[in-house]
Amino acid sequence: MDPLVILREEHELVRRVLDNLDQCLLRVERGGSRRDLSRFVRWLRVFVESWHGPKEEEILFQAMLQEGFDTSSGPISVIRCEHSEMATGLDMAVSAIAEARDDDPSSVHPALVALRSLGYLMRYHMEMEESVIFPMADAELSPEGKRQVWERMYAETRQSNQSPVAGAMQALAQEFQVLYPSASRRSYAA
Ligand SMILES: [Fe+2]
Ligand SMILES: [Fe+2]
Repeated sequence: MDPLVILREEHELVRRVLDNLDQCLLRVERGGSRRDLSRFVRWLRVFVESWHGPKEEEILFQAMLQEGFDTSSGPISVIRCEHSEMATGLDMAVSAIAEARDDDPSSVHPALVALRSLGYLMRYHMEMEESVIFPMADAELSPEGKRQVWERMYAETRQSNQSPVAGAMQALAQEFQVLYPSASRRSYAA
């Protein structure tokens, strides 16, 4: 049993949504509607701040801290800083989207830059977690620590999946895949 399977699956989901976002950004760049930019930001904010991020901060990193991992410096502290950077990036994207105007098509450019930067950061961040943090936890957490991480992740996911927010998130991810299909990944709806 992989105690981090839920985190890995959630990474795959956000990668699909980032692929959809890339398609949306290309269309806006070519003069398409910017209507959905705010909906992507809303989805990513829930993912980072309420859905996926807390599982890492409050379950995985807490378990690692309890087993003596250094969380105040080194890779875990870098990852924590990136969580804050992503929250800041989301705020910047919200501001940039709000400043785009219908009478000036070029005014959407800062929003496109902010969202592309956020996408790069999120992809890089997930790669770092999968190549550094998760293997470290796999290799060094005790069997009991892994069991507790798995149980808490599973319980948290089961609870959050029953919330209206999770349902709305899943539905929105499916809608993004229909509106902005990504050729490189299988459909989330499939
Ligand atoms: Fe993370
Ligand atoms: Fe993550």
